[in-house]
Amino acid sequence: MSEYVNITIDDRQIKVRAGEKLLWAALDNDIYIPHLCAIREKERPNAGCRLCFVEIEGDTRPATSCTRTVEDGMVVRTRTPRVDRLVKTAFELILSDHNLKCRECPANRNCALQTIAKKRGIKLRQGRFKTIVREFELDESPDDFAFDRSRCVLCGQCVWADREVAKTGAIGFANRGLNRVVTTFRDRPLAESNCAKCTFYADVCPVGAFYYKKAAE
Ligand code: SF4
Ligand code: SF4
Ligand code: FES
Repeated sequence: MSEYVNITIDDRQIKVRAGEKLLWAALDNDIYIPHLCAIREKERPNAGCRLCFVEIEGDTRPATSCTRTVEDGMVVRTRTPRVDRLVKTAFELILSDHNLKCRECPANRNCALQTIAKKRGIKLRQGRFKTIVREFELDESPDDFAFDRSRCVLCGQCVWADREVAKTGAIGFANRGLNRVVTTFRDRPLAESNCAKCTFYADVCPVGAFYYKKAAE
């Protein structure tokens, strides 16, 4: 079997590594597809954010590009009316409980949500879904970083880094549905868990939920 396959994305022919997921093949070739939850090293993507939809010729419905493996001859479109509708709805749902105060946010101008909004021409402040921002206590207990859950988009990047890179197992997801949160064991302050000195979270968080305190000064 060849090491590479040829695919077409938005009329551009590209050669990509066989076995690669479509999302990474596109991004590696400067073709933007919105994404929040995809982790390249992760064997089985969660596909939770529902932002990375594309249409593939021959398929009856749009597919999430983070879960789809490239195939030789694949013809892909990143922008179609169906894709745009799905991405907009997913994006608006993500923002429906988001504490949207960009000017006060350490991630301002370096935020994946702002990038998606800009690239896809979607407003960050939208009116379709009722916005319900949950109240959370800001956790500033570690020396170098802080955690503001009201900005968390539940992408899972921090949980994965904690388990697979830092290997501390200090944080994880708790609860289901609208009550889902990232938290520590027994919801203790971060400084009381074994991740107090670990700054991986602030490095991987694509928004302003985990952030370096110096970025907020
Ligand atoms: S996380 Fe991004 S979108 Fe949310 S308030 Fe901060 S800068 Fe704005
Ligand atoms: S804290 Fe940041 S990295 Fe972790 S799940 Fe929330 S948005 Fe993702
Ligand atoms: S990046 Fe594909 S579903 Fe989140």
